[in-house]
Amino acid sequence: MSIYLSPSMLSIDFTKVGEQLQIVEQAGVPYIHLDVMDGVFVPNISFGIPVIKGIRKASNMVFDAHLMIVEPERYISQFRDAGADIINFHVEATKDPAGCIAKIKESGAKVGITIKPNTSVDTIKPYLQDVDMVLVMTVEPGFGGQKFMENQVHKIAALAQIKKDLGLCFDIEVDGGITQENVKIVLDAGANVIVAGSAVFGKADIANAAKEFLDIFKEYDAK
Ligand code: DX5
Ligand code: ZN
Repeated sequence: MSIYLSPSMLSIDFTKVGEQLQIVEQAGVPYIHLDVMDGVFVPNISFGIPVIKGIRKASNMVFDAHLMIVEPERYISQFRDAGADIINFHVEATKDPAGCIAKIKESGAKVGITIKPNTSVDTIKPYLQDVDMVLVMTVEPGFGGQKFMENQVHKIAALAQIKKDLGLCFDIEVDGGITQENVKIVLDAGANVIVAGSAVFGKADIANAAKEFLDIFKEYDAK
């Protein structure tokens, strides 16, 4: 399975968004991770539909939206119309995960189901055959720049095992505190989509920071 880097726009320099998106795209980065926060599901507010619509014109990368909003089913079609290619919703944020999955599928976007650190893999087991991606949080959602929670790695391994046992092919995305130094821990456990905010856009040389990740992925792809 190929490994993809999905830098989080939360850490971008918002005075240079177009320019910095170009830099990562030209460095060969395939995805851009878009953290949408509503101030209710998480104690922070980031950006939403108009911003995504605006940057869609500035980038051909895969738009990997991570909705940290309550009742995400209310906004699926708007995020899709704004340009989201993958829509990740939190299982904790909706009373109707199956309905949410159906709505995302209907929109034509890929479906990602997301779990916070206190949510078990068992909670999402009934939905795994219906999703394209599982997003495992390795920090409490809400803020960039937090410390990686290594005690979440067992969930990545459990999901990789379920994929194998049931012959499923969803991507395993990991988000929170990932750096060039600790990324191998999650790759070894079976993750194949890696979110990194501060470790890419927080660095002085963004292109080089992204390339460092891509070089590590090449080693794994060659294995
Ligand atoms: C946290 C967000 C993350 C965050 C990642 O709620 O979902 O995507 O921006 O940032 P770093 O890599 O700095 O932890
Ligand atoms: Zn995220």
